[in-house]
Amino acid sequence: MDFSKNDRQAFEEKYQEIIPTVPKAGKNAKLVLPDGREVDLPIIESANGPNVIDIRSLYQQTGYFTFDPGFFSTASCVSKITYIDGEKGELQYRGYPIEELAEKSNYVEVCYLLIYGILPTKEELVKFEEKIVQEMLVHEKLIEFFKGFKTGAHPMAILTGVFGALSAFMHNDLNIYDPKDRELAAIRIVAKLPTLAAIAFRTANGLPIVYPQKKYGFIENFLYMMFANPTTDWKISSEIVKAIDVICILHADHEQNASTSTVRIAGSSLANPFACIASGITSLWGPAHGGANEACINMLESIGSVDNIAKCIEMAKDKTHNFRLVGFGHRVYKNFDPRATIMQKICHNVINVIGKEEPLLDLALQLEATALRDDYFIQRKLYPNVDFYTGIIYKSIGIPKNMFTVIFAMARSVGWVSQWLEMMSETGIKIGRPRQLYVGHTPREFVPIEKREPEEESRVPPLHGDDDILGSIKLG
Ligand code: ACO
Repeated sequence: MDFSKNDRQAFEEKYQEIIPTVPKAGKNAKLVLPDGREVDLPIIESANGPNVIDIRSLYQQTGYFTFDPGFFSTASCVSKITYIDGEKGELQYRGYPIEELAEKSNYVEVCYLLIYGILPTKEELVKFEEKIVQEMLVHEKLIEFFKGFKTGAHPMAILTGVFGALSAFMHNDLNIYDPKDRELAAIRIVAKLPTLAAIAFRTANGLPIVYPQKKYGFIENFLYMMFANPTTDWKISSEIVKAIDVICILHADHEQNASTSTVRIAGSSLANPFACIASGITSLWGPAHGGANEACINMLESIGSVDNIAKCIEMAKDKTHNFRLVGFGHRVYKNFDPRATIMQKICHNVINVIGKEEPLLDLALQLEATALRDDYFIQRKLYPNVDFYTGIIYKSIGIPKNMFTVIFAMARSVGWVSQWLEMMSETGIKIGRPRQLYVGHTPREFVPIEKREPEEESRVPPLHGDDDILGSIKLG
């Protein structure tokens, strides 16, 4: 089953464009330790963006680790896929600006670009989409898993479980060392996610499952599986299909964010890729990441009226609360999120097409304007992120709140798997294994149970957090 050395060579020659290699180091950075020792650390130049100090030999040379919770200053891999300049508000997939892709491309073409590193010809694109649509069907046995979830289960919980279960169907014949098998796994991951997402929605609502159709494209098929009624003809406006397509382009990849890093770390142990994607889905779910679209609508609904905006802003600034303005702020973007700018335009278009006023849009616009005038948000460079407007778009299309993050997962699946493919294309994959700064007890003597004295205060530390969580706001 092993991928031979000759195969490897042929693969490397053919796919030079997408296999990332660590560039040769240039100058050194000098580190002076408290004991006077001097250590030279190589500086590696990036193709774009900050260069890095290569600290791979730091521990061996000095006995020190570095400390960087949240990875504020740590590059965990080399990558050729996505570039972000957070100060300038720039996002590029394989060198193409997101604005251009949103205007001139479509989601399936972007999937091709992310996976293969190049834009397809017309023929390649048609074949690729046909292949994806063909792979949208799922094993009938897998559908039985949906029956096991209780009514009202969150679709993200269902998706995490069922997507992980896909690995049971695609394991024995999958050789992760063979690029052809990896390619097929990638196509299947992108293809099966919308089907499972739609089945999660339909079974949760007691609706019959609708199967994908060859005559529809990828995005149309997703909407068809979500909304078609088997007894009537299905129609959808091309503007809505286009809006969802662009939303998916905007969410397709975002370099080493929490969920993508999760997929890479899971994959670094050489685990099954379908299981790795399930770990990405889990990480995405939280309101600080992909769950922000649902949390943002919850927040806007709780604010309810423009009269409450000032109070909400005060709460977001108040450090005694955990509450944050959901849909605001980003680890990387410190000027504006280019995806949010496009998203705001789509939001207006969709509301025009639907022809029904959306009171939450007016509220969101006023909330944004108020926050952007406030010193707290100005000083911390907090701007609307991609998820500030997405929820309003989904809501006006009739997509239920608990499906918002599911759609994000569907769109991001290609980013996750492209990053996994990239990692797997490298030689000498290193298992992801961070270090820690240990601050616990030094060795101490074990006390036998009969000698342990009861203490006045409860010995069990509180494991619960504060009352408010991200996105839950009580203004009353
Ligand atoms: N509302 C109020 N204050 C905020 C917000 C916010 N939305 N975001 C950050 N801050 C404040 C922090 O309290 C902190 O203030 P301090 O310096 O006085 O302590 C400062 O800004 C920096 O915040 P950090 O938490 O250090 O920033 P980080 O890069 O770790 O967090 C994050 C980024 C998680 C996105 C954060 O901005 C946030 O929680 N936003 C709200 C949730 C959200 O919209 N998430 C979606 C992100 S986009 C995506 O994942 C698809």
